[in-house]
Amino acid sequence: MNPDLIQELTPADLRGILRYVPQWRNHIFVISMDGALIRTPNFANILLDIAVLKNLQVKIVLVFGIGMEIRRIADQAQLEISDSSGEGPTDNITLEAGIQAAGTIAHKIMQGLTQAGLQCVHCNALRATKVGIVKGIDQQLSGKTDRIDTQLIHQLIENNVVPLVSPIAFSRLGEALRLNADAVSADLAIALKASKLIYLSPFKGVSIHDEFALNITVEEIRSVLNTNPTALLDITRSKARQSVRAVEAGVPRAHIIDGRDSDSLLTEIFHQVGIGTMVYGNDYMQIRKAHRSDIPILFQITRKATFSNELKLRTIEDFEKSIDHFYVYEIDGTIIGTIGLRPFNDPSVVEMEAVFVQSFYQGRGVGKKLVTFAIEESRRQGKKRIITLTTQTADFFKELCGFSETDKSILPQERADELALSKRNSKIFYIDLQE
Ligand SMILES: CC(C)(COP(=O)(O)OP(=O)(O)OC[C@H]1O[C@@H](n2cnc3c(N)ncnc32)[C@H](O)[C@@H]1OP(=O)(O)O)[C@@H](O)C(=O)NCCC(=O)NCCS
Repeated sequence: MNPDLIQELTPADLRGILRYVPQWRNHIFVISMDGALIRTPNFANILLDIAVLKNLQVKIVLVFGIGMEIRRIADQAQLEISDSSGEGPTDNITLEAGIQAAGTIAHKIMQGLTQAGLQCVHCNALRATKVGIVKGIDQQLSGKTDRIDTQLIHQLIENNVVPLVSPIAFSRLGEALRLNADAVSADLAIALKASKLIYLSPFKGVSIHDEFALNITVEEIRSVLNTNPTALLDITRSKARQSVRAVEAGVPRAHIIDGRDSDSLLTEIFHQVGIGTMVYGNDYMQIRKAHRSDIPILFQITRKATFSNELKLRTIEDFEKSIDHFYVYEIDGTIIGTIGLRPFNDPSVVEMEAVFVQSFYQGRGVGKKLVTFAIEESRRQGKKRIITLTTQTADFFKELCGFSETDKSILPQERADELALSKRNSKIFYIDLQE
């Protein structure tokens, strides 16, 4: 687990965690476990984490991959296989190895779930059809999802049973076919209207040009996959593609996380920052107007910055008077940052105030997004000048946000009087908006 996250956890975080608990109650998560994970030390923890989620009344559907196990079986028996990834043709030998691999992995998972006190059923909820010929190549016994028996899956999850879905499925006539587990997982997440599709992989998540993508919009990752697919490592591409497909089809979030990392599953779900790559649709992050109901949390989070004198103290009453001027940056229902746009008697001037990002999210571009938003919003409101006052963040506004330093002659009279009274000796910055 990321040591920064361990250091951050305090008993008070329990409050935060408990706030998240009801959030996912009765939601469906499709968890897709790479078969390679059954041979890692973290395998037992993953199943325990699934038991924790079940105890929190999350409805789990578990899919597993068989690629690595097929390779292992083929190596041991010195078999010549046509493809192990589930993306190429499947000949008879590969299918036989796949059936054996699926049996071994399903057995291990069922054993582990039993030890974790969970009931599960390895089910045939998936009907497959042959992929056929792709770019002139017969894919032989490779299949794709033809139909999903959602009723069967719902019956199982309503009865507190974990459905276990294998990438070996049968056609209408009962012929066994080998499917790609990443695609099957996305198909299930879409058909079941899951809230999350979670890929537990034997790698960290997705990096683009070697830069780790923590949270990425579906548009961004789709554009990289379409224009420059090699920017992603080969092993991550299939899960990235299927994540895009699922999110575009209405699954709110897809996560690709490192299943070798103990606690990664729970951290990804319950920690505000997460640990792996999350692909999300537009509704996940937003800057919106603050509501009156946000006041207690705004007071609580900004108060910390007043101890170090980074922000001036705003009381609950101050927020009540000025809440109409505040905006919040929200991620998944949690307020991560805030910014105020204070009007003056002079309607051409607005002050950007109380720019604040929670410490666990600093350095991820939220501050700059809030400032850019404030500048755009002021322009939209027809303001001619935006000003901001700061004691400790001069370089942030000047070097990163394009503000210029000036003196107090620029301030509206009421603001100049306040500044004199406050004795904060703040530096003054501005941007002219209609140049
Ligand atoms: C200032 C603040 C809003 C920046 O938010 P953020 O989300 O961390 O900022 P971003 O991720 O968009 O930008 C990070 C960059 O800002 C720089 N930065 C952050 N705080 C800074 C400061 N006090 N002075 C100078 N630069 C600063 C970082 O070094 C980083 O630079 P880089 O991109 O070159 O690496 C945030 O640090 C904060 O809330 N601070 C406490 C409250 C405060 O001081 N508010 C401003 C008072 S008006």
